[in-house]
Amino acid sequence: MVLIRKEIKICMGSSCFSRGNKQTLLVIQKYLKDHHLEREIVLKGNHCFSDCSSGPVLKIGNRVYEQVSSDSVLDILNTEFGDL
Ligand code: FES
Repeated sequence: MVLIRKEIKICMGSSCFSRGNKQTLLVIQKYLKDHHLEREIVLKGNHCFSDCSSGPVLKIGNRVYEQVSSDSVLDILNTEFGDL
């Protein structure tokens, strides 16, 4: 079996954290658990990405997602991981 490991980096800088990533983090954790992806996907909190005005920010692999909300993150996760 090939182990696919992707990395999610969620900005935990104060701007992104207070504008939604605090809640988005919980949504991602629940998604990974519910979809049994905790071994395939590495979830990391990050310091400020220096992109606060476009935040809340999330990175998956090399892709950067801006203005992420706890609602829109579900679409992002389904797009990224729906086939896993
Ligand atoms: S706090 Fe997230 S980009 Fe600065």
